[in-house]
Amino acid sequence: MKLGIVGKGGVGKTTVSALLSRAYAQRGGRVVAIDTDSNPNLGVSLGLSLVETEAVPVLPRALLVGTGGDVSADELITKYGTTTAGGVTLLSAIRVTAAGAGCTCAGHATVRSLLGEALADQADVTLVDMEAGLEHLSRSGGTLAYADVLLVVMEPSRKSIITAARTLALAEELGIPRTYGLGNKARLPEDADFFAEVCAEYNVPLIGVLPYDLGVVDADRAGTDAGSGLGADVRTELDRVISALEEVPAVPS
Ligand SMILES: Nc1ncnc2c1ncn2[C@@H]1O[C@H](COP(=O)(O)OP(=O)(O)OP(=O)(O)O)[C@@H](O)[C@H]1O
Ligand SMILES: [Mg+2]
Repeated sequence: MKLGIVGKGGVGKTTVSALLSRAYAQRGGRVVAIDTDSNPNLGVSLGLSLVETEAVPVLPRALLVGTGGDVSADELITKYGTTTAGGVTLLSAIRVTAAGAGCTCAGHATVRSLLGEALADQADVTLVDMEAGLEHLSRSGGTLAYADVLLVVMEPSRKSIITAARTLALAEELGIPRTYGLGNKARLPEDADFFAEVCAEYNVPLIGVLPYDLGVVDADRAGTDAGSGLGADVRTELDRVISALEEVPAVPS
């Protein structure tokens, strides 16, 4: 499964990417997590120190992966992948290290080619943590055009749900088979009701609602693995979301 994690700024995309990656790895899956944010933080949320995160090699721009490309998927994972203590292989696709260095389009083309075919034998689950906004869907060809599922993370705010509705429309145009809204930072039960009502209003299919969790807050402040002190409610809901993703029958190719 190839999952794109998208949504409005600050809703919890990186946190959810880390928690889902870890959960899939704990279930025995081979997980590749790709950080495509130009301000990359996924490594820290996966339990690497800041120094280790900064040391993750960035994929060369415009590298084409797979048959007829510049590098095989095996070579790519060996050369650029960093394995975390939780058993997730992290790839860093985009990093801005110099002011005025130009746009990141070529890095997005690499991610597109990666998702296209290349990791079929290397990963059971590939997750892509995206930068906020909708550009990954409008960009030439669409960075996430080959994703099987988009999860649009939302916080309990109308604007983040409207972002999910806009994402849904663009994802449909790109031909991405499944897109869901995933509520996050919910103070239960009133925020769960808000997600249900407003998602229904904008026709956003709601796959789950993750509670606001003090374990996530503490991990963020300490700069440690987002999943290290996770509350039982979040773990239960993550399991439910993973089961729901598995239950939906694959769209025939
Ligand atoms: N379920 C949660 N409970 C409590 N805090 C959370 C939860 N999910 C995320 N957060 C906190 O919200 C903040 C933003 O999270 P995160 O960095 O994952 O968002 P993002 O969508 O990736 O942001 P950006 O748009 O900058 O990439 C962080 O401080 C994170 O610890
Ligand atoms: Mg992020």
